[in-house]
Amino acid sequence: GRVDKGGHRHFMAKEIHEQPAVIDACLSHYLDGDTVRLREGEIDFSGVDRIVMVACGTASYACHVAKYWFEQIARVPVEVDVASEFRYREPPLSDRTLAIFVSQSGETADTLAALRYASGKAQILSIVNVDTSSIARESDVALPILAGVEIGVASTKAFTCQLTVLALLALKAGADRGTLTAEDGKAHVEALRKMPALVSQALAVEDRIEDIARSLAEARDVLFLGRGAMYPLALEGALKLKEISYIHAEGYASGELKHGPIALVDESVPIIVLAPRDHLFGKTVSNMQEVMARGGRVVLISDGDGLAAESAAWRTVEMPRAPAIWAPILYAVPAQMLAYHTAIAKGTDADQPRNLAKSVTVE
Ligand code: G6P
Repeated sequence: GRVDKGGHRHFMAKEIHEQPAVIDACLSHYLDGDTVRLREGEIDFSGVDRIVMVACGTASYACHVAKYWFEQIARVPVEVDVASEFRYREPPLSDRTLAIFVSQSGETADTLAALRYASGKAQILSIVNVDTSSIARESDVALPILAGVEIGVASTKAFTCQLTVLALLALKAGADRGTLTAEDGKAHVEALRKMPALVSQALAVEDRIEDIARSLAEARDVLFLGRGAMYPLALEGALKLKEISYIHAEGYASGELKHGPIALVDESVPIIVLAPRDHLFGKTVSNMQEVMARGGRVVLISDGDGLAAESAAWRTVEMPRAPAIWAPILYAVPAQMLAYHTAIAKGTDADQPRNLAKSVTVE
């Protein structure tokens, strides 16, 4: 049926706010008690010796996050590539390779071409929002993300639902491969079941984000930093901001700061640090201190523990506490809202950014 903005100014805002509900629906679809069940077809990760993940844009950043999850939980090597590179590189694949294609639309030309290259060489799994799409039809198994229709060109709820399916798949992979105990698996499922409520809490920081966004709108360049699974989220935060506000933004691994981007830092460059208090938090704090010593204005997005430990930031945004491993699902929300409100402050069209298409069906 027809989709309306449900009282929001833009589809993007509506889609950001739908996330608790769609993540919840996605979890319900794949969870049977404490067990991950794939109703659409069987994947047995015990016979897989390597995973390659291929996608474009925001979907490729979901793959980058999932690499951390698969490697940590299932001890399986993962490669991530953008489809436009993968398709022409002729990468070696075998019948023990699981090739995962992630696409909201299921119609992105490069991703489809990459899938066709892998077809017959590796086992093909896709993760899609449109289950009648070409990518879904040409896969051995196609898993829906159940995000509902996404209209805003900049992907939001599809990203967090992609992450949700990938998180569950990583748990299944760990169980299949014997690298995750039943007890730890159960604890992870319990934590994931709390994500919709935590995402709702994250949405409550919108007024504060709006305030920060008014300052970001003045910037010419913005840096996003993260470590571990928050590094790909820094890439996604930068992508969202440039897509809809047209401000130049770069995402960097916090530890790479001194290998280049620190040369850009002065009072005019806001630095968004995505850092839940985890075992690497102290390292990120020292990276932050390096930029603050050069006049950089740091926006620290962290939980209560992180903000208590580091109070010198220019602005702070408090996220609820969550297990560090699943924090990317939660921290996607302030990154999306930051981009959205910066676009509003600049007066750009958040739903229909110039030069961009929702689905890129030609090469
Ligand atoms: C375009 C859209 C992005 C999207 C990308 C991949 O660039 O503007 O939001 O992430 O395509 O699209 P897909 O449908 O394959 O996820």
